[in-house]
Amino acid sequence: MKEYISDKEGIIEYYRDKNIVGNYSINRFSDILGRVIHRVQIEYINKIIVDNNVDVLLDLASGPARISQDIMGFKQGVALDSSMPMLDIARQLLDKKRWIILEGDAFDLGFEDNLFDMIYSFRFIRHFKRERREELYKGLFRILKPNGILIFDAVNYNKAYSVRKMVGRYNIYDELFKKNDLINELDENGFKVQVLRGHINHFYSQWFFNKFFSKLSDKKAFNLVYKLEHIESENPLEWLVLCRKK
Ligand SMILES: C[S@@+](CC[C@H](N)C(=O)[O-])C[C@H]1O[C@@H](n2cnc3c(N)ncnc32)[C@H](O)[C@@H]1O
Repeated sequence: MKEYISDKEGIIEYYRDKNIVGNYSINRFSDILGRVIHRVQIEYINKIIVDNNVDVLLDLASGPARISQDIMGFKQGVALDSSMPMLDIARQLLDKKRWIILEGDAFDLGFEDNLFDMIYSFRFIRHFKRERREELYKGLFRILKPNGILIFDAVNYNKAYSVRKMVGRYNIYDELFKKNDLINELDENGFKVQVLRGHINHFYSQWFFNKFFSKLSDKKAFNLVYKLEHIESENPLEWLVLCRKK
């Protein structure tokens, strides 16, 4: 059976592959569910930037700037990733006056202490096992300002375990979190969880509309999947985690 890639070096190498890079954004935006997920993430981050007067932010493991190309309302952004091919795409999409684009290692961040008002990191922290995540938290804690904001995505064990049996395997390891374990893990690493916003709140219905309704009308299917996302759920597929440096 094929093994997940879960080691730091393996993950870096995987995302330097030109085929993976070339298809990355195409895959993320290829269906309606992907586009809704993206829209929700962007709206969430942009609102937090405005509500908290965020000036300086970091997109950790930015990839091709899937997220950052749509982020607004801040003064200075840094997009950091270990993959040059990913950053070559990011460079074409991001406004040079606002963004610094850096090749670097998320486990060895060369920034000064207390620099950032906000750090967001999507589809990244979840790919590591606890010991490695703790290394990441330590670095992020150091470079965030006091009370600074960290936003990332975390997969909900109680939903994803069964969903993944249905939709199959992935190439890269994904941690499936139990809610309290996630809150405790962050607490033990210097972060207080403020909000766990349910994300992909009604996976099976959203997946169904995505698959079958999109054949009838793309716009209608998008609206349905998007509306469902705004009905809260006790058991979402993922969470958007909003926490603060304690
Ligand atoms: C799944 S992609 C996520 C990209 C983007 N954040 C998004 O949500 O679309 C993971 C990214 O992590 C980057 N990455 C992997 N290991 C890294 C490391 N040690 N330091 C910095 N970036 C890393 C990869 O190059 C890749 O661009």
